[in-house]
Amino acid sequence: MFLRNCWYMVGWAADFSADAIVPFTVMDEPLAIYRKSDGTLAALEDRCPHRLVPLTVGRKEGDELRCMYHGLKFAADGRCTEIPGQERISAKVCVRAYPIEERHGAAWVWMGDPQKADAALIPPIIGPDDADWAMVCASFDIDANAELISDNLLDLSHAPFVHESTFGGSNMKSLKLMKESETKRGMAVLERGVQADRWHAGRQSNPYFGEVPSDDRVVSTFLVPGVFILTIHSYAPGVQERMGSDGPVEAPIFARCTNQMITPVSATKSKFFYNFGPWAKGADLKAHCFGIADAAFQEDKFIIEAQQDLIGRSPDSKMIMLAMDAPVLRYNEIYDRLRSAEQPVNQAA
Ligand code: FES
Ligand SMILES: [Fe+2]
Repeated sequence: MFLRNCWYMVGWAADFSADAIVPFTVMDEPLAIYRKSDGTLAALEDRCPHRLVPLTVGRKEGDELRCMYHGLKFAADGRCTEIPGQERISAKVCVRAYPIEERHGAAWVWMGDPQKADAALIPPIIGPDDADWAMVCASFDIDANAELISDNLLDLSHAPFVHESTFGGSNMKSLKLMKESETKRGMAVLERGVQADRWHAGRQSNPYFGEVPSDDRVVSTFLVPGVFILTIHSYAPGVQERMGSDGPVEAPIFARCTNQMITPVSATKSKFFYNFGPWAKGADLKAHCFGIADAAFQEDKFIIEAQQDLIGRSPDSKMIMLAMDAPVLRYNEIYDRLRSAEQPVNQAA
């Protein structure tokens, strides 16, 4: 069971052209997403209540959608505004309208109680519209439960194995150092997620900007319902000895970041939205940096789909938790707390 009172990413802003009606499924609920004439987005249930035909195969007429089976027309708030050949329209003839917002170059849909939709809860990702970064955005499908993908992102111990051939320098020694600093500094527990601030020191070179030694500061935030925000700032080696109480007192030599958003399509399918890029100063390396990360994300997809396939064939097998799974457990506590707060009172009774 997934959280409902939260914002799920349903596309990059550029995925929604002025004329399109874009289909997207969240938690088995089909949505029809389109732009109104003022440019803002609308999201309706993609199912005409008459004969259950998708509105996405219908037609956009101004700010409304017309079902192209028998012509029922629906406003952006879900009301039926026209039934051809019939005067009276019952209020029961309607589709569900979902709160939808465009922020950080992405579109977000609220799947829970519309009264609780709070735009302040949209995850603060670094998007393509952020002037400090040069981000390349993409997405792909993963045939796996969204939780398996969250687990993968919460625990970077998989990096030296899954990403042996892509993320250079992620050897056992550097992983051990990173894990040690994570243990030392711990993870900050946030209201809706967890955050780790750690050092990946003593890197000899870096696939992103060359044969330059660096100490990297890695700050990762993981927020419900499955949003991973990672920034890595590289400094001249030995930076930790030259640190002030608020962090490094010198400028970084390079920075890069990635944002990864997991949206559950069904219990065994997810959409993975992601971006990757250097800081704006390194914009000329944007395609190069994205290429490395993109290859790595395909490696994650491969291993997670293999895992989901096996789980599907042996549903009674249980996982075991090890020390490396601490961030996963911390995050799961937060997720479970938010989810139980959503349960209706009658269920508690
Ligand atoms: S199915 Fe949509 S109008 Fe009949
Ligand atoms: Fe990975």
